[in-house]
This record gives sequence, C-alpha cells and structure tokens, in this order.
Amino acid sequence: MASASLTRVSITGTGLFTPAESISNAELAASLTASVEKWNADHADEIAAGTLAARDVPDEAFIEKASGIASRFVMEKSGVLDPDRMRPHLPTRSEDELGVQAEMSLPAIHEALEQAGRKPSDVDAVIVGCSNLQRAYPAVAIEVQDALGAGGWAFDMNVACSSATFSIQNAVDALRNGTASCVVVVNPEITSGHNNFELRDHHFIFGDACTALVLERTDDAVNDGSGEHGRWDVLGTKLATQFSNNIRNDFGFLNESEDEARDPHELVFRQNGQSVFKEVCPLVVRHITGHLGEVDVEPTDVRRFWLHQANLKMNQLIAKGVLGRIPDEDEAPVILDEYANTSSAGSVIAFHKHRDDLSSGDLGVICSFGAGYSVGSVIVQRA
Ligand code: COA
Repeated sequence: MASASLTRVSITGTGLFTPAESISNAELAASLTASVEKWNADHADEIAAGTLAARDVPDEAFIEKASGIASRFVMEKSGVLDPDRMRPHLPTRSEDELGVQAEMSLPAIHEALEQAGRKPSDVDAVIVGCSNLQRAYPAVAIEVQDALGAGGWAFDMNVACSSATFSIQNAVDALRNGTASCVVVVNPEITSGHNNFELRDHHFIFGDACTALVLERTDDAVNDGSGEHGRWDVLGTKLATQFSNNIRNDFGFLNESEDEARDPHELVFRQNGQSVFKEVCPLVVRHITGHLGEVDVEPTDVRRFWLHQANLKMNQLIAKGVLGRIPDEDEAPVILDEYANTSSAGSVIAFHKHRDDLSSGDLGVICSFGAGYSVGSVIVQRA
C-alpha cells in the first residue's frame, strides 16, 4: 500500500543474534554419508527386495554449486552431525527457565533497541514472526515481552519464510492505527529443529539465526537518521499469498489424533525445489515490480535489494527480472554463503549487515518469499 497520505513509519533499529556454532558443507556431507551408509546397510534386505529405495549419499560440491550455501550456523552442532541422531540436542527446559526462542530473541532485540535509542520499557508491542514456534501457548512473544520488561501486547505469527515481512506489515498497521507506539518484530528461527538432515535433497538448506527490528512512527522516533545505521522510512509494504503444497511441513497438534501413521519425513520440512524455483521467481518479480509501481519508484532507482536468502540463482533471476540484468553483490547482497537459508530472518540479516554504506535518500527493497506461497516486500528510504 502506498503511504503518501498515511502516518509515516520508520525502521529505527535492527539486531542480529548469530549462534556460536557453525557447520561446513564438508562436515554436513560427511555425517550424512555415514548415516546413509548405515541406513542402507540396515535396510539391505528391503532394498534388495525392491520394497525400499536406497538412500543417496550427498556431494559436498553439489551443495554450493546448486544453492550458494557454504556453511550454516546452528544452535547445537553435535546432535546434527551425529549420524545416529541427525537433529540438534536442545534439552527440555523447565517452566521456570527462559525458553530457547525467547533466549535467542533478547540479544537481537537489545541491539535493535540500542540503534533506535530506546529502552525495553519504551516497547509496547512485540511480534514474534517465524517458521516454527516451540509450543502452542503461551505465545513466545509474551514470554519475550515479559523477559524484556516491555508493556502493551504481544503475539506470535507464522507465514514461514515471509514471517518477518508479514510481521513488519502488522507493526506498520499497529503504528498507523495507534494501537502501539514502539513495536519490536523478532524472528527466532531454529530451522535446525525442522530441517530434514536425513535426506540429501534437504539436509544442506537451512541455518539458525534471530533478527529483530524496531518500528516507530517517524515523528516520534528518537533516531534522527544521522547515526551509522541510519533511520529507514517505510514507503510501502505489500503482501501476497497463493496456495501451494510445494513447500510443506505437516507437523502439528493433530498428528496425535490422526488414524494413519505419518511418514516422519512429512513432519519436517520438505519441498519440490525445482517447482518452487520455477513458480516463485516469476511471482516475486511481478510482486516487486508491481509494488515499486504503486509507490512511483522505477526499479533502476532502487539502490539495494535485500532479498530472501534461499538460493543464489533464484535471487539473481529475481533481480534480473526486476532490473533487466544480473545485479552485483552491492545491489543484491548475499549472506546465504555464511548463514544458509535462515527462513524469515534471511532478508533482515542482509538488511542488518548491508545498509550502513547507503546515503540519505537511497531507496531499497526488503523482500521475502517462501512456503504458502507467500511474498512480502517493504520499500524503504534512508532518512
Ligand atoms: N548432494 C548431491 N546430490 C544432490 C544433493 C546433494 N546434497 N541434493 C540433491 N541432489 C541431487 C538430486 O537428488 C537430483 O538428482 P537426480 O537428478 O538424480 O534426481 C539432482 O541433485 C538435482 O536436484 P535438484 O533438486 O533438481 O537440484 P536443483 O538444481 O533444483 O537445486 C535446490 C536444489 C533445493 C538448491 C533448488 O531447487 C532450490 O533452491 N529451490 C528453491 C528453494 C527454496 O527457495 N525453497 C524455499 C524454502 S523456504
């Protein structure tokens, strides 16, 4: 929606939490190879009888060539790399302890508040947007609100990889409606808990991270834009969804009530990667082009695109569709090589790390896309 006649809203700060541990493609491929060889040996009779298909071993070189991913951060590495486990060790915490998603949210939020020149007690709304929430309720956002010492209200939401941009839309709406004055959007993505590390088509895709943003009405902001990280005025936000089963995870509270046993691989992330690639790229090109048109900005006037970080070729194709040429890394920065796909956090990490060099008046687009399908774009201008 174009914002010319609406209350002006700005992103006044951003923050990033990066887990301490990372896994290289070589380490990941070695552990999956060991796991696959063991699985094939354990199921040799069924494989020989043709009732089960042998699993394929991964190729380290394929991963970077196909995706642009060289490594990924994870909350816990040893469990992921253990061929007998293939998922992180995240011990159950008691109700008296801070949950793991709330815990990773706090450092990102504190960094974002510092950039905004705000204290936790100034915050009157917290929106947790991410692909996977650790429990049904109470909302992780309310736990974060409490741990932060913030007032107002808080809620969780999930639109998969578009959760950050959809949360930003909710923050902008709340600020314009007057239902909040200082909104924290936070994206605690523990993708290692939903990734399928047992299959070579999926094991390399994701990484863990948490991003945070502070949004305020421009006229109320303490951050006047003169600092290193700037203030980023929101010129427009636009969301779109279109149903698809090509990225799907059937984990949910009804699993226990279902009469047929589920294949465990249906209860973690799965996708038809080629179809996603073919269908989502044109959708995103039309979305960004249409959104820029709505706020009277020519694609060539956009100084930087902070795109969702799922696949390098996908981003090049999208930017080419918008600009008419492949962008360089200065125009469309990449964090995928170091972080992999961090779901909703990806485009915000790119924005967090690659915006300080832009000048006052420069325009940029934060854009996410993913399961649903869902696409969200936020057009910003440095104050
Ligand atoms: N090591 C070795 N081979 C692998 C492999 C691995 N880790 N992963 C897949 N392969 C194989 C496949 O099994 C396939 O083999 P086949 O030809 O014998 O069937 C071959 O490599 C090609 O696989 P394909 O899936 O066609 O590769 P791709 O070029 O499409 O790249 C993705 C795969 C996932 C990187 C790519 O499709 C993609 O990024 N899609 C969009 C992802 C996305 O945005 N998802 C959103 C998630 S939120």
